[in-house]
Amino acid sequence: MTQEPTFVILCSGRGSNMLAILDACEKGHITATPTGVISNNSNSLALEKAKARQIPSFSLNEDSPASRDISLKEVILKLNPDFIILAGYLKKLPSDIIEHYPDKILNIHPALLPEFGGKGMYGLNVHEAVIEAGKNVTGVTIHYVTGEYDKGAILFQAKVPVLKNDTPESLAARVLEIEHQKYPEVIEEFIQNSLRKNNLKNTS
Ligand code: GRF
Repeated sequence: MTQEPTFVILCSGRGSNMLAILDACEKGHITATPTGVISNNSNSLALEKAKARQIPSFSLNEDSPASRDISLKEVILKLNPDFIILAGYLKKLPSDIIEHYPDKILNIHPALLPEFGGKGMYGLNVHEAVIEAGKNVTGVTIHYVTGEYDKGAILFQAKVPVLKNDTPESLAARVLEIEHQKYPEVIEEFIQNSLRKNNLKNTS
């Protein structure tokens, strides 16, 4: 039997996308194995939720940005995943990890990039900015990860309406529902496509 590819999920907070991904794995909608959940935040709910699902969870050393990156590299080296999935991870990845995983790292952003992305654009800040700008459409973007926040090539976008009476919270909830539906689907497609590409390379 050929082994499924493996991936790790990086989170900083609540971990609702992480749960949607783990659910999809359990249902066989993602044909890859999650071998770890990693967080820079030891209080992250994501870590508790991962433990409850018997997924190995790792809390990074947050003494300094440098020690965080060293501990991240140690965990990644140990788990040696095929793919890295960011789900609400608020820190930049060290450049050597990005270089080591070309086109193998995905992130999800709760707006239509390139608008409303970049440093400081996370959580409710994004939805506040969308409402303040008077937009009537926002959305979800799934993209490759590079060394710059929210700048990698876009793999998928879905639009979500902004309603007249939306608060950042109500808008966030509408966007999140789409994130939970689409991220697992896009991850499966992305993994299958990357495997096909690798197979083609090996057989040519
Ligand atoms: C999501 O809105 C995601 O788009 C962004 O961070 C949030 C994470 O939420 N990158 P959760 O931790 O998955 O609940």
